[in-house]
Amino acid sequence: MDFHIIVLAAGKGSRMKSDKPKVLHTLAGKPMLTHVLETAQTLTPDHIHVVIGHGSDQLIEHYQNYEQAINWVEQSEQLGTGHAVAQVLPYLSDNAKVLVLYGDVPLIATESLHELVTLADNDTLAVLTIDVEDPTGYGRIVRNLADEVVAIVEQKDADDEQLAIQEINTGFMAATSTNLQNWLPQLSSDNAQGEYYLTDLVSLAVNGGKEVEACSPSSPEEIQGVNDRLQLCELECWYQSQQGERLLREGVSLFDPNRIDIRGTLTVGKDVTIDLNCVFIGNVDLADGVYIGPNCVITNSSVGPNTSINSHSVIEDSKIGNRCNIGPYARLRPGTVLAENAKIGNFVETKKANIGAGSKVNHLSYIGDAEIGADVNIGAGTITCNYDGVNKYQTNLEDGVFIGSNSSLVAPITVKNGATVGAGSVVTKDVDEQQLAVARGKQVNISNWKKPSKS
Ligand code: UD1
Ligand code: CA
Repeated sequence: MDFHIIVLAAGKGSRMKSDKPKVLHTLAGKPMLTHVLETAQTLTPDHIHVVIGHGSDQLIEHYQNYEQAINWVEQSEQLGTGHAVAQVLPYLSDNAKVLVLYGDVPLIATESLHELVTLADNDTLAVLTIDVEDPTGYGRIVRNLADEVVAIVEQKDADDEQLAIQEINTGFMAATSTNLQNWLPQLSSDNAQGEYYLTDLVSLAVNGGKEVEACSPSSPEEIQGVNDRLQLCELECWYQSQQGERLLREGVSLFDPNRIDIRGTLTVGKDVTIDLNCVFIGNVDLADGVYIGPNCVITNSSVGPNTSINSHSVIEDSKIGNRCNIGPYARLRPGTVLAENAKIGNFVETKKANIGAGSKVNHLSYIGDAEIGADVNIGAGTITCNYDGVNKYQTNLEDGVFIGSNSSLVAPITVKNGATVGAGSVVTKDVDEQQLAVARGKQVNISNWKKPSKS
């Protein structure tokens, strides 16, 4: 049996007050629709159809290089959820299973959907429902005396007795294509909103002698839809606190699970400590014994065992070795690779730099396009002058080199093993092994110097 997933995403989302289609707004750094597509993928469907209307050009463009094949289906007028699903009918294969998801319900979980899909067959329509304290706005699940689901009534069509029902329709449904081909053309828009309701499939199924089975998600947040930025923010907070709690259970020390943000995938070893207000973006890997100080932002990087990253450090696309010490206030830009025991201190910026074992750049420096050997000491305020306004050039500092403070290393340049550069030098020529290079104005001391006086 073929398996099709339909994602509804044609709505306008006017309450977002945005030029961007609603489903492109991000949760944990990823568009809501991407969350839904990734969850869809975990169910290994044969086809994914996304129904779009408002902002369809922006959506298609955003996903043009996406790894999954997506069949974009235009719904030019938004005449209701049933109408939206009906747009996909021409693309459904016969005897297929079909699952309906929502682009603006980003946190639905694989397990809940799996159960829903399992329930659906030619004799059964499956709906995902949940009991809530406040059912306002939702479709209500109407059951008969035998506790069987017999209808879904929208808020606007419900009578007082129905309005009191606390079991609500989450919107998620699974059915066979055979049944959808039969039912969808029978929908009518004769209701309070003048829309073709997907929810009317329930009464069509019941009238046709089929069963309607319900199952529930494991948490109410899973089925929470987003209509405005407040709801998006609430889901973000919930998602992040879940991540925080997961890390605590995995053995990470956090001081507050609500004060960590993971926008991607964070993997951790044993005895990792993460202080407050850190943000992890993309794929970040922290090995055993890593300490991350407060207010760090780490993007697509790996950190080796027992390394400390001190507060307010910003690290991107970098590979950090064992027992390194970084920050506070360090900035490691893409292509930084630190070997074991390297030290990068405060107000140091690195970029495309290989820094060897035990080497130190402790204060106020810029090290870019550089190959630094082992046990190199780079004094405060050293700059690799890697750019002439047009091209970038390489700086090589071999093992054991000592660069005095406030030096400019004008690339391309090589300072060989064990050489020293005197403080305040502007070095433009290579320095040989063990040499001392000094390139600065000679000091002149003038005796009996008369200080200027007021005129
Ligand atoms: C729907 C359900 C309601 C359920 C609620 C859960 C129906 C008739 N009602 O109501 O029972 O409790 O979801 O949140 O299904 N969409 C389209 N094209 C359309 C209409 C909608 O793509 O023509 C998309 C929207 O972009 C949105 C989703 O379908 O993502 C749900 O539509 P919405 O109008 O918000 O449905 P509700 O009124 O919330
Ligand atoms: Ca809705």
